[in-house]
Amino acid sequence: MRSVWIPKAGPPEILQVRDGPDPMPRAGEALVRVRAAGVNFADVSARLGFYPDAPPFPCVVGYEVAGVVEQAPGVDGLAAGQRVVALTRFGGYAEAVAVPAAQVFPLPDALTFEQGAAIPVNYLTAVLMLRHFGNVRAGERVLVHAAAGGVGMAAIQLCRLAGAEVIGTASASKHATLREAGVAHTIDYRSEDFEVAVRRITGGRGVDVVLDATGAFRKSYRCLAPLGRLVCFGFSAAASGMTPNRLAAIPKLLAIPWFHPVQLMNANKAVIGVNLGHLWDHIELLRREMLALLADADGGRISPVVGKTFPLTDAAGAHRYVQERRNVGKVLLTT
Ligand SMILES: NC(=O)c1ccc[n+]([C@@H]2O[C@H](COP(=O)([O-])OP(=O)(O)OC[C@H]3O[C@@H](n4cnc5c(N)ncnc54)[C@H](OP(=O)(O)O)[C@@H]3O)[C@@H](O)[C@H]2O)c1
Repeated sequence: MRSVWIPKAGPPEILQVRDGPDPMPRAGEALVRVRAAGVNFADVSARLGFYPDAPPFPCVVGYEVAGVVEQAPGVDGLAAGQRVVALTRFGGYAEAVAVPAAQVFPLPDALTFEQGAAIPVNYLTAVLMLRHFGNVRAGERVLVHAAAGGVGMAAIQLCRLAGAEVIGTASASKHATLREAGVAHTIDYRSEDFEVAVRRITGGRGVDVVLDATGAFRKSYRCLAPLGRLVCFGFSAAASGMTPNRLAAIPKLLAIPWFHPVQLMNANKAVIGVNLGHLWDHIELLRREMLALLADADGGRISPVVGKTFPLTDAAGAHRYVQERRNVGKVLLTT
């Protein structure tokens, strides 16, 4: 089978397609023949050498796939030929991957492999942020950064289901799509100060929840109304170019604010951190949420937005596309 390797930190073209034997599933694992694999910003960060959770180089990244079970020795409930979606703790950028059965879920007939692979990371992250932590409710206002991205589009749909209003930041070319997706107000963060825009849009009140994986935490915090919740879940600003540049990232990392408990008390604000990739030991929680999300997708309550697919052999093109900020919704690799 072919898989895509990151041999060392570098530009998108550093990615190498290599041929090798199929992985051998151990007892309790399923061998999944991959049809679509999710590309996440974390993979780009891993390629740049900025992602502490990535395996050491050389490595194959990839957190999610959809495909067909080829064999599942000793596993109840999964059979050869079954269409599935799986959370993979790396190894997803491949034509086949062996996955513990607890991380594999039947893919509803109504969903394509592409739609299936677009669900796990984006929607689980959005569920943790908006339901587990953010407790978002009808009538509340949510500021979603990178609203047109993979997580962003998932978050918009969950906000709408909750009856909350979304203010979304994105590059200007994506604003029409965001409005079609139900975003009430769009902000071009590249030409306008989003904090000023949020004040204007909310008449000075601020928003109830902010989802920020860009790293603009200080400004996002200032956008909160009393009882507001800031969810920090990434730092895409650290990825400033196609090639690794640790020096450029240092001032941005040093500018990350500390939030003092007394300051939080007096402001009636909450600062929350989410890292889906640190919940592997809580697989029952992830299973519960995945099954609910797949039922929601099957019933049309959520609708994964597949922005663009690239052949597995052009993973470099996929990484470049994301880093050029061109994607709307999920980017996938297909085999
Ligand atoms: N903590 C967690 O558990 C978790 C889980 C999933 C994702 N994340 C984080 O959430 C963020 C979104 O992830 P995703 O996979 O859904 O990616 P994504 O949002 O689809 O990422 C690409 C988009 O981000 C926007 N962007 C903002 N700053 C950028 C920068 N410096 N470089 C490139 N693009 C930038 C661009 O759109 P616009 O210019 O239109 O905004 C771009 O199209 C990432 O920071 C990721 O690390 C965290």
